Amino acid sequence: MNNTTATVLIDNRPVPIEGERNILEMVRKAGIELPTFCYHSDLSIYGACRMCMVDVEGRGLMAACSTKPEAGMKVKTTTEEIRQMRKIVVELLLANHDGQCPTCSKSAACTLQNLSRRLGITKNRFKPIHQPRAIDVSSPSLVRDPNKCVLCGDCVRMCAEIQGIGAIDFAGRGRDAAVLPAFNKNLDQVECVNCGQCAAVCPTGALTVRSSVEDVWKLLDDPSKTVVAEIAPAVRVALGEQFGLEAGEVVTGQAVAALKTMGFKKVFDTSFSADLTVIEEAEEFLTRFTKGEHLPQFTSCCPAWVKYAEQYHPELLPNLSSCKSPQQMFGSIARDTLPKALGIENKNLVIVSIMPCTAKKFEARRPEFAKDGIRDVDVVLTTQEFARMIEERGIDFRSLSPESLDMPMGFKTGAGVIFGASGGVTEAVLRYAAEKVTGRTLENADFVQVRGEDGRREIEFDVAGKKLKLCVVHSLANARKVADEVKRGKSVYHLVEVMACPGGCVGGAGQPLSRDMTARRRRAKGLYDADKTQPLHKSQENPYITELYKRNLGEVGGHKAHELLHTGYHSRRRLGDTGIPLITGTAAEKLKITVCVGTSCYVKGSQTLLQGLVKHLEERGLTHAVDVQASFCHERCDRGPTVVIGDKVFEKCTLDTAIKTVEGLIKS
Ligand code: SF4
Ligand code: SF4
Ligand code: SF4
Ligand code: FES
Ligand code: FES
Repeated sequence: MNNTTATVLIDNRPVPIEGERNILEMVRKAGIELPTFCYHSDLSIYGACRMCMVDVEGRGLMAACSTKPEAGMKVKTTTEEIRQMRKIVVELLLANHDGQCPTCSKSAACTLQNLSRRLGITKNRFKPIHQPRAIDVSSPSLVRDPNKCVLCGDCVRMCAEIQGIGAIDFAGRGRDAAVLPAFNKNLDQVECVNCGQCAAVCPTGALTVRSSVEDVWKLLDDPSKTVVAEIAPAVRVALGEQFGLEAGEVVTGQAVAALKTMGFKKVFDTSFSADLTVIEEAEEFLTRFTKGEHLPQFTSCCPAWVKYAEQYHPELLPNLSSCKSPQQMFGSIARDTLPKALGIENKNLVIVSIMPCTAKKFEARRPEFAKDGIRDVDVVLTTQEFARMIEERGIDFRSLSPESLDMPMGFKTGAGVIFGASGGVTEAVLRYAAEKVTGRTLENADFVQVRGEDGRREIEFDVAGKKLKLCVVHSLANARKVADEVKRGKSVYHLVEVMACPGGCVGGAGQPLSRDMTARRRRAKGLYDADKTQPLHKSQENPYITELYKRNLGEVGGHKAHELLHTGYHSRRRLGDTGIPLITGTAAEKLKITVCVGTSCYVKGSQTLLQGLVKHLEERGLTHAVDVQASFCHERCDRGPTVVIGDKVFEKCTLDTAIKTVEGLIKS
């Protein structure tokens, strides 16, 4: 720090201002962990929980998360007044909370529990006012327990800002306030894509990963079943975090040893089937590229993105690769080969996949991925659940001797490993396509240009004299922009990789929870380092894959390969005329009003407009003269909020326009 550096005095120590956006970041840089509920560095600032209050000399108490640092500020992070205030905030939250910590799946990782301990709260001065609310277990991926919500809104902002969906929002006031899916429906009835990112930022047990641990224990205990596992690339660089190891440390061998101790008969690698995905997907791409059809090709290995495309961009479904994801390709191949190899009936083979992802639970249940009532993948466990099983079994993870994956589906190339990081699929496909197009061996298989952290990256390559334009996106709000460009005919890309989770699968919501933003980066680095240590780096070099085509699949992209490795997706777009009635008037002649609350309109404020309009009609005593309903999507998403009043459609409608039009029409 030189003499001219602007500083803030934090607890009597000068701290240089180096681009921090708020005092909270400065305080954390100074090594002081200020308590917060509603701050998340990836999201907009909400400033509602008041946990981060600090005393700024001359200004009084201020929320550190929403106050900019200024040179010369003198900040105290803890005074007696602040201590007492924080205690009161936590005690008030606990008074309206179902505090059953021993049975809560967030216990030991919960901010409320942790702060209560940190602040020395041993009794609550406020009377309990908590009224039990129904727990939503409708989602295949998540459990939503409103009894444990502290209304920080992190989940709401994650879903709307990063994923561009808005499947959940605040509702009600005072003690009835809650975070709910639209119209108090269950999560599986709204546009949730099961990405789980809301649960990844939820500080309490209000949104958690739906556990399949009990199912797996029961299956392992059933002597008629042979249970095998596939383990995804991103799991191996994150699992160790749960046992005190560094993010990015590769623990595949220990994971295999733990699974074998639990009773898994065989442990395979999803990177093997990722190699298969690369070959099928690259061939599909080269065919489309040559014919100029259905371009850009979108990747389809992220099930949250696939559901998102089905809901919002069904016209782009022909552009999605028809390849199954590596998880599902593994399931298909395992069902095709393992019963014979292990001498068992298919119905007694249980396939458990261990994934960084909550949406994979949804994917495994899709009807496309079952035959004769048997699912290709029976159960999906997230990294978190797998870690919990290791703990429950009392396995000392750190002292496990690494064991080898089983062959042949335990063998992979580096291309199958880097799948877990954003850009990995694209790079793996390029390693195949470049050799195929040029007919020459690629000496250096690295395409470092596609790597990185930006949410949208564009890369251009010259392959055999042809320009190839690629785009890599992560987070669905970014995917939406690219999809909209394609629909408007403005896209210049040939291939688009989409991963719903920030950073790709390494940032999946099933991974160990971490507020440390560098964890994702270190996990991705762990995968690229693991690629370097593999003897082979291109999927087409995997000898077991070559053997698989020779013995089982036939030609790449051929009939059997298609039957086992490809699939199709369907539109889930909701139609605008199947609305939800909010006011049903009693007059003989009524004015019909429909407000779109589809995601695009929602993010442009349609729900607020709808609430304002309903309130106005009630206050003016006009409810008898109208039918008001909320609807989903009128296909004018870029011009929302869309409101239909009588027979007229209003685009970019405001509350004022709606009220004036409705009043005018009712009077006439
Ligand atoms: S959310 Fe936190 S405080 Fe509430 S029961 Fe669960 S662990 Fe305990
Ligand atoms: S799982 Fe994803 S889509 Fe569903 S509510 Fe959470 S953030 Fe939104
Ligand atoms: S569900 Fe979790 S993240 Fe969402 S408001 Fe409640 S406590 Fe906060
Ligand atoms: S973290 Fe600052 S007000 Fe919630
Ligand atoms: S969301 Fe499509 S028109 Fe409203």
